[in-house]
Amino acid sequence: MTHRPVLLGVNIDHAATLRQARYRGQHTSHLAEPSPLEFTRQALLAGTDGITVHLREDRRHIQAEDILAIAQLPNVRLNLEMACTPAMLEFALQLKPAAVCLVPESREEVTTEGGLDVVGHFQRVQPIVQALGCAKIEVSLFINAEAEQIKASQATSAPVVELHTGAFAHAWGTAHEKVARNELHQGAELAHQLGLIVNAGHGINYDNIRGIMTLPHLHELNIGHSIVSRALFVGVQSAVREMKQHLQIRA
Ligand code: PXP
Repeated sequence: MTHRPVLLGVNIDHAATLRQARYRGQHTSHLAEPSPLEFTRQALLAGTDGITVHLREDRRHIQAEDILAIAQLPNVRLNLEMACTPAMLEFALQLKPAAVCLVPESREEVTTEGGLDVVGHFQRVQPIVQALGCAKIEVSLFINAEAEQIKASQATSAPVVELHTGAFAHAWGTAHEKVARNELHQGAELAHQLGLIVNAGHGINYDNIRGIMTLPHLHELNIGHSIVSRALFVGVQSAVREMKQHLQIRA
């Protein structure tokens, strides 16, 4: 069987994390480095299919100015990760990125620790999905691969789910790996049966990608921390090209 290659969305947040470590409050200074915009240019040259950014309420890494500059680049397919808040909805409707991924957000967490609770917050999530859909923005919901969350996601009329791969990434190489992979596998099957496009992301690296690529129906993977980390040693273009190659190999 021939498979379509899985698309790569490079999450560039942590290029901004490095800049903010030195230049918090001065990100527009000519001294501020590294530049997330330049990181994006390099990732595009290496053939990434998309660029993902998460504009967090606390602005700990990417800033609105970064996103506005990146959106001006030619041929960039931008995926904006955001919390389900009125302020973020307004930002997204002005920006009009190709895609928005709705994620949970709390100030304390280091990164997005769990999926969005679409079942519990249905009344809040659905109107945001619909407002974005009306603006012709493709919406995905970042959820744990649980049947109830997948069914609720479909009920919001979001066309895409992004399955949270964090638990699998933690379990990789341990006795729990198989269970975690089976959960993702079943989630991907159910989402596909319900007509949803299946993306995945969080904690994916150059090693556990082998396990991820055994999952069915994958459309796009959003990968950030491991690509930015590898870029420190081999450069952005090599880091992106290497990950792109992994995404061509279906198990
Ligand atoms: N997808 C979503 C929805 C995320 O919130 C994140 C983390 O910001 C990622 C993908 C990328 O995760 P990582 O940086 O671990 O590759």
